[in-house]
Amino acid sequence: MIDYSKLKKIPYGGDYNPEQWPEKTWDEDMRLMKLAGIDIVTLNVFSWAAIQPDEDTYDFSKLDKIVKLVKKNGMNICMATATGAHPAWMAKKYPDILRVESGGLKRKFGGRQNSCPSSVTYKKFAPKLAGELARHYRDEKSIIAWHISNEFSGDCYCDNCEKQFRIWLKNRYKTIDKLNEAWDTAFWGHTFYDWDEIVIPDERSEHWGDNRTVFQGISIDYRRFMSDSILDCYKMERDVIREMIPDASITTNLMGFYKPLDYFKWAKEMDFVSWDNYPSVDDSYAQISMAHDLMRGIGQGEPFALMEQTPSVTNWQPYNALKRPGVMRLWSYQAMAHGSDTVMFFQMKRSIGACEKYHGAVIDHAGHENTRVFREVAELGKELENIGDNLFGTVTKSDIGMIWDWDNWWAMEFSAGPSCDLKYVNEFGRYYRALRQMNYNVDLISFDSDFSKYKLVIAPVLYMVRTGEDEIIREYVKNGGSFMTTFFSGYVQESDLVITGGYPGRLRDILGIWVEEEDAYPKDKCNHFGYNGEEYPANMLCDLMHLEGAAPMDDDGYRDDFYKGMPVLTVNSFGEGRAYYVGTSSNDEFYMDYLSDICGREGVVPIAECAEEVEFTTRENDKFRYYFILNHSAEDKQIKLPAGGTDIITGNDVIAGDITIKGRDVIIIKTQKQAVI
Ligand code: GLA
Ligand code: ZN
Repeated sequence: MIDYSKLKKIPYGGDYNPEQWPEKTWDEDMRLMKLAGIDIVTLNVFSWAAIQPDEDTYDFSKLDKIVKLVKKNGMNICMATATGAHPAWMAKKYPDILRVESGGLKRKFGGRQNSCPSSVTYKKFAPKLAGELARHYRDEKSIIAWHISNEFSGDCYCDNCEKQFRIWLKNRYKTIDKLNEAWDTAFWGHTFYDWDEIVIPDERSEHWGDNRTVFQGISIDYRRFMSDSILDCYKMERDVIREMIPDASITTNLMGFYKPLDYFKWAKEMDFVSWDNYPSVDDSYAQISMAHDLMRGIGQGEPFALMEQTPSVTNWQPYNALKRPGVMRLWSYQAMAHGSDTVMFFQMKRSIGACEKYHGAVIDHAGHENTRVFREVAELGKELENIGDNLFGTVTKSDIGMIWDWDNWWAMEFSAGPSCDLKYVNEFGRYYRALRQMNYNVDLISFDSDFSKYKLVIAPVLYMVRTGEDEIIREYVKNGGSFMTTFFSGYVQESDLVITGGYPGRLRDILGIWVEEEDAYPKDKCNHFGYNGEEYPANMLCDLMHLEGAAPMDDDGYRDDFYKGMPVLTVNSFGEGRAYYVGTSSNDEFYMDYLSDICGREGVVPIAECAEEVEFTTRENDKFRYYFILNHSAEDKQIKLPAGGTDIITGNDVIAGDITIKGRDVIIIKTQKQAVI
């Protein structure tokens, strides 16, 4: 949990790196930040080399000055542990800290997120630094959160990681025979007789090209191992801080749909989830919402922190378009609409050197408050002041859970066949986008979540079904839940071995179908099918399936090719519930049409009537429901307010019914919940 005991309002601020500037400039920074309503700064993110000039010296004198100044100016601190980039002297003295790339290239000192997670040097010095910091600042009340490292990421293929991989495998499989069986090493004569024969899967061994592997089982295990290894690095730092400061609130900044790290596992180790939101200008609003919902989902629905966003522009995209006037405000509220209880930026002040000097900041190179960006930041600062603690303690309620799963992501995209166009985020996104555009709240969930909370659980492309997961689904549906899945689901178990007996394997009885074959179409070709009298494309993959108890839901099956007439959409009554199956991939119109029907059948009610490019979400506690209404277009829109109450941004009273919402504007209505009699 975010530590609300120290907060009166949504924390507003972000990364501040005064160590990059002469001290005489700091007072002016403070003046400007206060003018903008900033009340929290993240300090010390990349200061390892500054604090630790050599193996035995820790020098906090400069950081002390900064902490003192920030405190004097009434701001809170999110204290980073500075381990996101190691010092040059350390790399020179202990080269084991340097990573090795998939092609075998040993890195030299440089960059960041550059430490090997299996390096004894890193594992000694990183927690040591975190511990020294915690000891030094244990009584510092202005520190309201601890921020470990920065955007943990990447991977390593060095000899130490290889040794650790073998240990991880021994723990998982216990015997070499079990491992051979799990990976099906009889294929291409890969049988292992000794653990030391196992090498890391990379471009020197089983991998080639972009994500291709000879052995999916090995490669998935490597991904699991690497995610766990990097998580161990987080945990080592967390534990030393916890030991020193038992009530510390500890996090690290995550990155939304970041493939290499299994964030469901990560979030279990974090006091609160925080993340960095950097969409590109052409991302749809639903894409951004989906990432926020994932970040809420990994934390089991708890509010999260928006740790970073740019106030205006990034520097690392191919074309770094400015956020248009109003967009920074809109996207800040969008984060809150999906569960964020902070609004924070990278960064407070633009640096003058290196690769981020053209990244947006609250304080620009101009150095004063007379900029468009500063004005927008300051205006939002005032609004957040007015909103105060209104949203604290509110959560998102949803009748729809969508299963997101990292193992499944890795497995599906390592798969050789059936289509190179199959991308988990895209297929998942088709369902999410339709639901979001129709104003349903959606929770992103895992198999650890309580399915019984949901009227509808959707698992697009659930390719891997681990032992026991089919049982969870079976129970849920038996007891009256509704489950939906798609083509290329249920094929394999946890080590990527196919479940024989017919697809979709373990899900076959629940769905009441047998998928005999799967056809792939290139991007410019497709099949067709009818639903509700409309014709839709059947893109990319088409299941050739037989009904084994399920009823067809499409008009007359596929309309083209040799499997013309075979069913595309089915529903199976199973126990008290229903299991829906979608045998192909289609377009947005189809998903809207289909999912609105299914939601109707299952009694899932949208928050509000659709208005194009306008998003509606809710957050609530026992007494109040807050409706967020966000106009993502630049034009004014006619909408129907689903409820009356007080707009907590303006303080004005509003009544339900037709109104105009200005381009890029936001309304947050606080309504009293009906008393339950
Ligand atoms: C990430 C990092 C920051 C900064 C920004 C730039 O989120 O955490 O240090 O580099 O990107 O967009
Ligand atoms: Zn390594």
